[in-house]
Amino acid sequence: MKILVLNGSPKREKSDTIHITRAFLDGMNEATKQETHIIDVADKHIEFCSGCFTCMHNGGTCRYDDDMRGILQEILESDVLLLSFPLYCFGMPAMLKALIERTLPLASMAMRKVGDRYEHVEQKDFSRLRYVIICGCGFPNGRQNFEPAVATFERMFPNHRTIITMPESPMFNAPEAKAVTEPRLELVRQAGKQYAESGAIDGKLLEEIGSPMIPEEQYVKIVNGNCEQKGNDRR
Ligand SMILES: Cc1cc2nc3c(=O)[nH]c(=O)nc-3n(C[C@H](O)[C@H](O)[C@H](O)COP(=O)(O)O)c2cc1C
Repeated sequence: MKILVLNGSPKREKSDTIHITRAFLDGMNEATKQETHIIDVADKHIEFCSGCFTCMHNGGTCRYDDDMRGILQEILESDVLLLSFPLYCFGMPAMLKALIERTLPLASMAMRKVGDRYEHVEQKDFSRLRYVIICGCGFPNGRQNFEPAVATFERMFPNHRTIITMPESPMFNAPEAKAVTEPRLELVRQAGKQYAESGAIDGKLLEEIGSPMIPEEQYVKIVNGNCEQKGNDRR
């Protein structure tokens, strides 16, 4: 399969979340060899959508001739679009949101009703695309934290969508936390393998992946201890 990964962390390859994504891709590759391309969104020139709607009337050409043209082409040629990003203000980082908004040329202005909701009629064929969302975050708990982002992606990709959320993600960049991060990444590898083999991930496994790696109180104590340490260093 052709997998296009959009890394929406401004930290690029130093991202906490990309550790989870790499483990997922490793699992997919274990099942079958995949063709993967990772794009660091931070390195791309992507204008904000101007809201002119021209692209929705002209067969899908945006007024801006920037990096989005190539990205749209790659999206159309991919089987899986994997969004890897940290939770920012309960949603996705602005640069990734800007990119998603610029996928407007894929749809026309015409609307249709699907159940209780409306959607735009596509003007490019991306029907074979499946979506994987991998989102890390800094708080120790996903509750009252991930829900707005999850709801956004449930609306945005009503079909063929898999969402992985992971609290305590900064631990993936802490070598001293390996004893707990390695087993968690192993679960993510299993999820990637399952996804490649069946197109879905067992609900129980997803739940386990999304649970805190260490008790919330312990995580908060470590983070707060680091803050004090850094405060002392500055004095
Ligand atoms: C601007 C900003 C907003 C953030 N908002 C949230 C948030 O709403 N909830 C949360 O748990 N963590 C939040 N975080 C923490 C990041 O999600 C966390 O540090 C994550 O591990 C960073 O992942 P990355 O290294 O992949 O970029 C925020 C961080 C930044 C810089």
